[in-house]
Amino acid sequence: MTKAQVIHAYGGAEVLQWEEINVADPAAGEVLLRHTAIGMNMMEIGLRMGTYPGPALPFVPGVEAAGVITEIGNEVTEFKVGDRVGYAGPPVGSYAESRVYPASRLIPLPDDIDDNTAAASMIKGITAECLLTRSVQIKSGDRVLIHAAAGATGSMCVQLARHLGAEVFGTVSSKEKAGYIKTLGCDHPIVYTEANFADQVLELTGGQGVDVCYDSIGKDTFTESMRCTSYLGTVCLFGVASGLPEPLELMKIDLETSQHYVRPSIYAYTRERADLLSTAANAFQFMREGILQTKIFKTYELADAATAHRDVESRLTQGSITFRP
Ligand SMILES: NC(=O)c1ccc[n+]([C@@H]2O[C@H](COP(=O)([O-])OP(=O)(O)OC[C@H]3O[C@@H](n4cnc5c(N)ncnc54)[C@H](OP(=O)(O)O)[C@@H]3O)[C@@H](O)[C@H]2O)c1
Repeated sequence: MTKAQVIHAYGGAEVLQWEEINVADPAAGEVLLRHTAIGMNMMEIGLRMGTYPGPALPFVPGVEAAGVITEIGNEVTEFKVGDRVGYAGPPVGSYAESRVYPASRLIPLPDDIDDNTAAASMIKGITAECLLTRSVQIKSGDRVLIHAAAGATGSMCVQLARHLGAEVFGTVSSKEKAGYIKTLGCDHPIVYTEANFADQVLELTGGQGVDVCYDSIGKDTFTESMRCTSYLGTVCLFGVASGLPEPLELMKIDLETSQHYVRPSIYAYTRERADLLSTAANAFQFMREGILQTKIFKTYELADAATAHRDVESRLTQGSITFRP
């Protein structure tokens, strides 16, 4: 048995139920993990509300954690009992003290990255690496706009964009968050609650717009993201925190802009084990070199995951959130 946050019905944060559940023995190719730290991601809010595709009810949400292997199934050769490992992707089920997980998706944790930092930064660091170096390759001098720039993923993207030599524009909801992203190297913090963000970007760029816009908000921002992206520029929609935007009608797009649109998921970029390990190794190296600094806003008790969900939904948080199992 283990304690876990179980979702029996879709809804608000109150549907997270802290209960005892059975843990299966690890099947062939799986390991049993005792979690030491768990990362939170916006995806879980969508899973909880039933707006993000997930497993059938009831289920345990979460896709990011660090821990120790306590048992291995048959055919597991790469790992042994006692190894420190992490993971950054499905199958969901990380909101638990322990769980089984496929060995083929585990990431060995380096000695110089502690468990809480790993849980706070694997998905976010891998996402920044994939978005800025693979999905779109940011070059020195590019003008790059990042939405939710003070968030867990956005703050990593700001830091990596800066490192790659970009002129960085970041949107946030408050002056306080604007101050935070300035410390990360954002050249132009934009408080979108004070004035339309696209107008601000166009004013700052002399009407030209940015070369690349990383949009993780979706419904509330996508059209305006297109408007403040330059001709030949790229709009990268990698999240839909506010809901799905209206479908993009390819045939109605203004040919004069010849913009590019990408809709990346890190799970495509890390599908092959070699890519998972190389993106994770790059993210850890960026962290080691201080290029990516992980801000842990708060570590909540896993039993109190509902409070963390409420805080993220109220936009109170900056940087990453972790859970203590
Ligand atoms: N495609 C991928 O592979 C991939 C991988 C990782 C994450 N993501 C996406 O990246 C985004 C950020 O995820 P995260 O876990 O790092 O979260 P986060 O950025 O730490 O938190 C979300 C932030 O989004 C902003 N926001 C704007 N509209 C919102 C709304 N309607 N509800 C809640 N927040 C809203 C808030 O910032 P302000 O207060 O500044 O508005 C909030 O702090 C999500 O959309 C997620 O799905 C995608």
